[in-house]
Amino acid sequence: MNDLHALSVCLKNNDLSILDQTQLPNKQEWLVCDSIDSMVLMIQKLQIRGAPAIGIAACLLLATRAEKGVTRERFIAEASLLRAARPTAVNLMNNIDSLLEASEKEYPVSVVKEAERLFFEDIELCDKLAELGNSLIQPHNKVLTHCNTGGLATVGVGTAIGAIRKAHESGKQIQVWVDETRPLLQGGRLTAWEMGELGVPYQLICDSMAGMLMARGEVDCVFVGADRIAANGDFANKIGTYSLAVLTHYHKVPFYVVAPSTTVDLTCKSGADIPIEERDSFEVKGVKGGFGACVWAPEDAFVYNPAFDVTPANLVTAWVLDTGIYSPEDIQIGKLLG
Ligand code: MRU
Repeated sequence: MNDLHALSVCLKNNDLSILDQTQLPNKQEWLVCDSIDSMVLMIQKLQIRGAPAIGIAACLLLATRAEKGVTRERFIAEASLLRAARPTAVNLMNNIDSLLEASEKEYPVSVVKEAERLFFEDIELCDKLAELGNSLIQPHNKVLTHCNTGGLATVGVGTAIGAIRKAHESGKQIQVWVDETRPLLQGGRLTAWEMGELGVPYQLICDSMAGMLMARGEVDCVFVGADRIAANGDFANKIGTYSLAVLTHYHKVPFYVVAPSTTVDLTCKSGADIPIEERDSFEVKGVKGGFGACVWAPEDAFVYNPAFDVTPANLVTAWVLDTGIYSPEDIQIGKLLG
């Protein structure tokens, strides 16, 4: 396979490495990923994360293995193991299904080609999203974002963060409120790091501060990503997104969701059909990771830890997909994919 480089994924001489996102921003450690089991674990531990990035990383591993001589029967079995690694982000399933379809003819060359195509497609989709999302941002806007939807979460410039980055690079002099995003702090650790690297002016806030800022008129718009968008426009994204959407509705702040078309799942009629991942209790009882472990809750505390929530379509101002910007009216007449 050709060498491929992104912020959190690297393929060199047919060996795949991923940047361990659990250790960011304190340490930049690249981990070699040479087996399906290790990739499943890396995805589950969120060492590689973000809907598009996990889909692409999984496909690159499958393709390198196909090229190294894994039989098609084994390839199919390994694809189904990876497909089930995390349940909510549909990009993983969509990307692997494309690879499986490609494998029907001229395996393994077709699989290698398809994995490379998916990699470059994600870069292209992100560029389109950035362009379209930027058109919704006005000069001097204060933009709030949640979780991490940037270069770490995709192999391109990102989705919601791609739009923010484009606005910054266009000289719009925006300011960004970065939600820390409990429990795993993708905002506090990853988005803050990316904003700093890109030189985008930002301030980190606790998730619970967003309402107060909106009440004070300090938020002009909210940009978030998605892990799965249902046919009626409801979408799943990092836990806390729904609360933000409700706040924007009350405070009449525009709320935009930015995602590639690989995040749309027309087999889900509404958000109720989207499976929601539940994660380990330790994530809520404290923090653990590259920054060490700190547990503050009673050891035997009862915990509920859904990793995502569903935002209903009626709270969304517009859906920014690579195929265009969709209004609530467009969604009602079923135009989601143009
Ligand atoms: O659990 P994570 O960190 O993988 O969750 C990521 C998100 O919720 C992102 O907003 C989403 O995947 C879009 S990334 C472009």
